[in-house]
Amino acid sequence: TIQPLVLGIESSCDETGVGIVRGTTLLTNTVSSSMDEHVRFGGVIPEIASRAHLDAFVPTLQEALHEAGVALDDIDAIAVTSGPGLAGALMVGVCAAKALSVATGKPLYAINHLVAHVGVGLLDGAAGGGTGGLSDGRLPENLGALLVSGGHTEILRIRSITDDVEMLGSTIDDAAGEAYDKVARLLGLGYPGGPAIDKLAKQGNAKAIRFPRGLTQPKYMGTAEEPGPHRYDWSFSGLKTAVARCVEQFEARGEEVPTADIAAAFQEAVVDVITSKAVLACKENGITDLLLGGGVAANSRLRELTGQRCSSAGITLHVPPLPLCTDNGAMVAALGSQLIMAGIAPSGVAFAPDSSLP
Ligand code: KG4
Ligand code: ZN
Repeated sequence: TIQPLVLGIESSCDETGVGIVRGTTLLTNTVSSSMDEHVRFGGVIPEIASRAHLDAFVPTLQEALHEAGVALDDIDAIAVTSGPGLAGALMVGVCAAKALSVATGKPLYAINHLVAHVGVGLLDGAAGGGTGGLSDGRLPENLGALLVSGGHTEILRIRSITDDVEMLGSTIDDAAGEAYDKVARLLGLGYPGGPAIDKLAKQGNAKAIRFPRGLTQPKYMGTAEEPGPHRYDWSFSGLKTAVARCVEQFEARGEEVPTADIAAAFQEAVVDVITSKAVLACKENGITDLLLGGGVAANSRLRELTGQRCSSAGITLHVPPLPLCTDNGAMVAALGSQLIMAGIAPSGVAFAPDSSLP
């Protein structure tokens, strides 16, 4: 098979990413983040993110081409995230990709951001943490993906990366990273909150307080034979409220808020329920290989407990290197390359970005 040279563009949230791959070989992964501009607002502001993409796109593209040592003319195809994500942010990347496609005559592929988080695992050397597998150039037969970030929390089954991806479960309210960010704010830890809580939790006692695990009651879980309505789904809004109440109670008593214990107990609740439901979904759906992706894959406790629980369940865990787990253009190029190698036709330039793409 020929190894297509693919340029991937990502702009669904606050990262402007341009990645270039040849077949399953990563040539470059250039990312510019507007996170610094969102810090003072305590969350990503869509309008600011869109403007930042506009500023960053051309320099990021130029840097990527330079690093990969290729010219635009050498590229075989362009791939761009078409959703899900922030509408205005997506539009910048999609518009840029369409313009490049028209100007160069290269075919354009519209890419589903979530599937791209999985596709990145097919790049050579990206399997990380596991025992080979994903990067042998073909997918394990019974592959699942656990995607955990500021925008998504999902467990997927991947029968074919190009046309058969099924969502087994997802969050019904906040994404896990969003819960980290909101709780960090309650604890006065700043934004983004994930890394701060991860760090502070190491000094706390996770057993000092027990916070609720959402959607784990029998009426939601049901049984393997008769699954309840949310057997593989998550909810983090009740947990966030429980942390707020807990902080208030300490304050009302005039006591010092034990932020390290709260951080540790909160983190334990999130990680416990994410990993237990993900492993349950794998076991009950014959999934033997699990890929972990998304920015929260950086979390030390999530990596540890996912590793332990997968290993007890006989599931091989694959964790790509962190720069490939967070939002980036290489994952978009990686999936584009897979679509081309599978003989799938390009999308053309008439498609619209879809902020709520399933
Ligand atoms: O994938 P990502 O870079 O962007 C998207 O949201 O799509 O993920 C960012 C999220 C933020 O919510 C951040 O707080 C969280 O990932 N995060 C972490 C850690 N590092 C980043 N959450 C928990 N523990 C961490 N170490
Ligand atoms: Zn993402």
